[in-house]
Amino acid sequence: MIPRKKKSVLIAPSILAANFGDLGDQIATAEKAGADYIHLDIMDGHFVPNISFGSSVVKTVRGLTRLPLDTHLMIENPDLYLEEFQRAGATNLTVHVEACRHLQRTVSAIRQLGMKPGVSLNPATPLGTLEDILPEVDNVLLMSVNPGFGGQQFLRHSLERIRHLRDILKKRKLHALIEVDGGIDTTNASEIINAGADVLVVGTAVFGSPDIGGAIKALRKSADRG
Ligand code: DX5
Ligand code: ZN
Repeated sequence: MIPRKKKSVLIAPSILAANFGDLGDQIATAEKAGADYIHLDIMDGHFVPNISFGSSVVKTVRGLTRLPLDTHLMIENPDLYLEEFQRAGATNLTVHVEACRHLQRTVSAIRQLGMKPGVSLNPATPLGTLEDILPEVDNVLLMSVNPGFGGQQFLRHSLERIRHLRDILKKRKLHALIEVDGGIDTTNASEIINAGADVLVVGTAVFGSPDIGGAIKALRKSADRG
């Protein structure tokens, strides 16, 4: 029997931790080192207690890289902005279930606009809220910190949530990717992958490092040990 090839982990560096004065070079370095996506954290100061950047930065980044743009909306009323992010060049568009009153409508609008829909859950939001939407999304982004800021500590109960979601997907034969976001570095990457994650979103441990390329390679090495 031919051994099944182990699926490689996907790494999505978040530019929230990047030096915006040097964004072009930093993104090029990440791409060259094997990043799979560029992750963009959009914060509105309402859904989360912090303001980051909007669609104009997504548009700028679209011009800097060929990588898919994994766009994470931490905003109220995301429906008002779906088209704007599509025009800016977002590849994946992830919304928070806590911010969507009509989640199915939002997810289907994202798909109709030609983007890949994702849904995200804050650490205290039960996985059960995903039950009915799961077949319609390309990725589930589990927050492993309370969203709003980079550089926070990984919440360890996330591991149980990842395992549980992996089980649900397997039982229902669904193919959404499990993405984990917040507090990830080389000390915990392998257990996060072992728990069943497909995509690691990493801000500080990549763009906060003096060696961005080396940081991505080190993460991949520790994650592949998973
Ligand atoms: C938190 C953001 C994260 C953050 C990850 O609200 O969604 O994507 O940038 O950054 P680190 O790796 O610094 O926790
Ligand atoms: Zn994010």
